[in-house]
Amino acid sequence: MRDTISGGPELSAHELFDRAAGLHSVRDPYPELNELRARGGVHPFDLSRRYPILAGAVETPACIVTSHRLVTRVLSDPQTFSSSAYSYKEAAGRNILQMDGDEHARYRALVQRGFSRRSLEAWSNQVFAPIVEGYVERIAPLGRADLVADLTFRFPIHVIARMFALPEDDLETLHDWSSGIFLAPVSMERAMQCSAELIAFLRPFMERRRREPGDDLMSLLATVELDGERLSDEDILAFIMVMIPAGGETTYRATSNLLYALLTHPEQLRAVRSRPGLIGAAVEEALRWEGPITAILRYAMCDTELEGFEIAAGTHVVVSLGAASRDGSRWERPDAFDLHRRSRPGLAFGWGTHRCLGMHLGKVEMEIALRTVLERLPGLRLDPDAADVHIAGDHFRSPRSLPVRFDAAA
Ligand code: HEM
Repeated sequence: MRDTISGGPELSAHELFDRAAGLHSVRDPYPELNELRARGGVHPFDLSRRYPILAGAVETPACIVTSHRLVTRVLSDPQTFSSSAYSYKEAAGRNILQMDGDEHARYRALVQRGFSRRSLEAWSNQVFAPIVEGYVERIAPLGRADLVADLTFRFPIHVIARMFALPEDDLETLHDWSSGIFLAPVSMERAMQCSAELIAFLRPFMERRRREPGDDLMSLLATVELDGERLSDEDILAFIMVMIPAGGETTYRATSNLLYALLTHPEQLRAVRSRPGLIGAAVEEALRWEGPITAILRYAMCDTELEGFEIAAGTHVVVSLGAASRDGSRWERPDAFDLHRRSRPGLAFGWGTHRCLGMHLGKVEMEIALRTVLERLPGLRLDPDAADVHIAGDHFRSPRSLPVRFDAAA
């Protein structure tokens, strides 16, 4: 059974987020998702009992889509299946995740420039790699570490702070605010408090970037134009408030899952170590096998049907990226982690018009983290004294810790 999602101010927003995501109670949702998919690609669903981070206690009719074929179909039809169901608007402002149609296309075109492959290449060598190296260097002489607490939890939010040229002296508060905003469906009060504090923190930086733009992403957002139109202050703040959790939470959990996959499959860890050319394949396979987000949400705009299952206008549609990523009609032995399998485009970043804007960035960060760990931590293995290390979570999934040993650097 799931724990109730409660907690006073003594719990950090991050701790509450983990509870709402099922990290405290759901160990393995895949047998149930696999069973659902085996019975059909779409089913009625009680949204109020599951995925509270997606929809809180919404009691409108809902269904869950589980097969690869139907998940890609729903995500390729934004006119029928709208993104407007996300309820972060009050806390995060009107933002890209919940926009549809022309508004979404226009907004995405404006912000996309900051995510081009070219700007990423520059960022990865000059910014991402030194940040990751800094964390790994700190543990390298110790011979043991918790790769979640010491590395994966820390570096993605650090990368985002650097991309927006924000001060780096209190990254944990930034991380906590960002988790708090995504709590809106389960604790609007906490989300509003985090959002107000984050806005108060961000606003002076934004005003400065309008006056004196630099080469950071906030400056780009403050100055970018499309057909003579600029983003308003509120647009920019809303975008940053989505970007911090969208890029921080996901990359932290995805990198943790990648390291977990390799540490629990030592023969594949050896293969990547001896052939670094396999790093990209390991990242792709980890994202398929244990993606950090198992579900996203859509909303039926009109009466429709999927393979004979009738969906009334106003139905919430849970799009199970987790179930579809283990669809045996697309991947052989889908429950196995196998970085040698034939590569096919996966669903961890979604599909269609809202497909993750930070997809290349997320993958590059994961690759850099793995490469650095392999290079600087020889003999890396799970700590044999650690009990029951595992991935947990229903909506967001990751291990809570990754205790490891390695040969300490002299
Ligand atoms: C491994 C890491 C990541 C995963 C698994 C991931 C996953 C996703 C998914 C599933 C969506 C689609 C949501 C939907 O359709 O409702 C999405 C959208 C988005 N992601 Fe990511 N993401 C990751 C990293 C990042 C990073 C690093 C950033 C930026 C710093 C980012 C920014 C965004 C934004 C802005 C959107 C909204 C795009 C739109 O609505 O057009 N993500 N992400």
